[in-house]
Amino acid sequence: MLKINNIEINNAILLAPMEDVTDLSFRLVCKELGADIVYTEFVNSEGLIRANEKTHRKLKIIDEERPVGIQIYGANIESMIGAAQIATEENPDIIDINAGCWVKNVVGQGAGSALLKDPPYMQKLVESVVKATHLPVTVKTRLGWDEENVRILEVAKRMEDAGAVALTIHCRTRKMGHKGDADWSWIPRIKEVVNVPVILNGGVLNAQDVKKAFVETDADGVMIARGAIGNPWVFLEAKEIMRTGEVNTVVDEEIKIKSCLRHLKLAIDIKGERRAVLEHRKFYSGYLKGLFNASKIRAELMTHSNFAGVESVLFTYLKEIELHKEELQT
Ligand SMILES: Cc1cc2nc3c(=O)[nH]c(=O)nc-3n(C[C@H](O)[C@H](O)[C@H](O)COP(=O)(O)O)c2cc1C
Repeated sequence: MLKINNIEINNAILLAPMEDVTDLSFRLVCKELGADIVYTEFVNSEGLIRANEKTHRKLKIIDEERPVGIQIYGANIESMIGAAQIATEENPDIIDINAGCWVKNVVGQGAGSALLKDPPYMQKLVESVVKATHLPVTVKTRLGWDEENVRILEVAKRMEDAGAVALTIHCRTRKMGHKGDADWSWIPRIKEVVNVPVILNGGVLNAQDVKKAFVETDADGVMIARGAIGNPWVFLEAKEIMRTGEVNTVVDEEIKIKSCLRHLKLAIDIKGERRAVLEHRKFYSGYLKGLFNASKIRAELMTHSNFAGVESVLFTYLKEIELHKEELQT
């Protein structure tokens, strides 16, 4: 059971924070399809305290997506306190601290997974954020810096002592980046040393993985990142498999294409047509994956920068698929 203050969810399935992916439009799409908790992408504490407008925009949340967490990152305790206070004004359900990002420019500042190099400092930072907000604070981190330095049991205990009310563990080391097998066997071991809920993340790509993760580890929640990109119905399928033991829902071409357009329409309402259409390009390969002639259609979509163009390509494509099916049947 995932319990974070008054949020209580059995077999919770969460959408991971992802930079440039989990904006409001994508969070809403995932929510509609069953994601129990969604997160903003990580938001830079330095940008927030300097009132950078672009950074501040990332905090925008709405009631329809609740429960929602705002994730912040940084290395400097004062900046993180300030950022937590600014994020609190937006009234999310959770403030999440990023202690897992592996990319050079974040780690180079001492933020993200660099915090794992100094667990006492990481504890102090989390403790300070907890004191700075009345909202529940959670931490998302990794197993360790590299395989020789897996200190997650010590880190998890420190996070609990600092006042974090739940932990998300990306079951890879910083050195692994996003590659290699996530080692879920740490989840039960972490659960033995802390009382707060532990959410499993890493290598959960489909509904079957969700079930396997719950069965093998007894995690309190399972968080999906890359498996949801261009495939947000993974939440629908995961919910179904947890309820009935199998996935019977058939996600056909029409559902995929209409979800792609729905996502784009929401994005246009939020950030305007041109920007939304250009940013949507990264989702096409996911939405079209496995479909007939997908790479040609994707290339065609890439040439459009307004909604009408995209819609026309996709509707023509749907008709083409129907014809192709009829041909196959005759
Ligand atoms: C494009 C992309 C952006 C990401 N941005 C963030 C982020 O802002 N904050 C964060 O905690 N993790 C971020 N991550 C890491 C994911 O949340 C997750 O921990 C990681 O991808 C492992 O999960 P997966 O195997 O299900 O993809 C990002 C991952 C990807 C692929």
